[in-house]
Amino acid sequence: MTDFEQKQTDFGARRVPLGDKQALVDDVFHSVAGRYDLMNDLMSFGLHRAWKDALITALAPPKHHPFALLDVAGGTGDIAFRAVAAGGEQTRVTVCDINPEMLAVGRQRAAKRADGDLITFAEGNAEALPFADRSFDAVTIAFGIRNVPRIEAALGEAFRVLKIGGKFLCLEFSAVNLPGLDRLYDFYSFNVIPTLGRVIAGDAESYRYLVESIRRFPKPDAFAAMMRAAGFARVSYRQMTGGIVALHTGWRL
Ligand SMILES: C[S@@+](CC[C@H](N)C(=O)[O-])C[C@H]1O[C@@H](n2cnc3c(N)ncnc32)[C@H](O)[C@@H]1O
Repeated sequence: MTDFEQKQTDFGARRVPLGDKQALVDDVFHSVAGRYDLMNDLMSFGLHRAWKDALITALAPPKHHPFALLDVAGGTGDIAFRAVAAGGEQTRVTVCDINPEMLAVGRQRAAKRADGDLITFAEGNAEALPFADRSFDAVTIAFGIRNVPRIEAALGEAFRVLKIGGKFLCLEFSAVNLPGLDRLYDFYSFNVIPTLGRVIAGDAESYRYLVESIRRFPKPDAFAAMMRAAGFARVSYRQMTGGIVALHTGWRL
């Protein structure tokens, strides 16, 4: 047995062989793709929109220069649509995701928009990005990295495809740090979200995984250390909404 086959990792609350995790994650997003956007609005009371807007504000795509953004695990395109709307006409976004069903929803959404042709959808794994070294001005990943089996590999790949001087932004669920909110958040996460998943998306299990995976994601200081280990400089993070999410940033210098 190779190291990869022997190693275990988290899949939500379960321990699974590292080599099995991606297929399990793919099943989750295959199952939820059609209802993914609606569920995001319902589960977060629309807050995911404000968190994604905060990422775009920090990204600050230029109005008058060429700007190539790679959105890893970009799913149905939320970050890409915001980036082209905020950037200038020389902004181009590549959405890369491992799941063809999520990308298909993204493509359909893009086809309905006047600026949709500024976005390219590409199937690919965050752990082995199908792009050349130093080819993007910025790399983003929103609510994606906790699903990737080998987070270190994904960080290394984001670093590799960034140009020197490029910025990496990672939006991810974090650790609630507001007394009182933690208990409410736990109740909501473990009781309400799987029920919503069952009623709206016909799949409680996938949403249970999404909730459990949030708890197992490294705390923000630990994730910042992983970013530094991948080579990023000037690493920092900002927690939002009582610590429900964090926006991590770093640079390739
Ligand atoms: C919670 S969704 C986030 C989608 C989008 N970024 C957003 O914020 O709405 C997670 C996405 O990660 C993708 N994903 C999971 N593992 C991946 C991998 N190894 N490489 C690329 N994408 C992956 C899934 O297919 C899914 O589309």
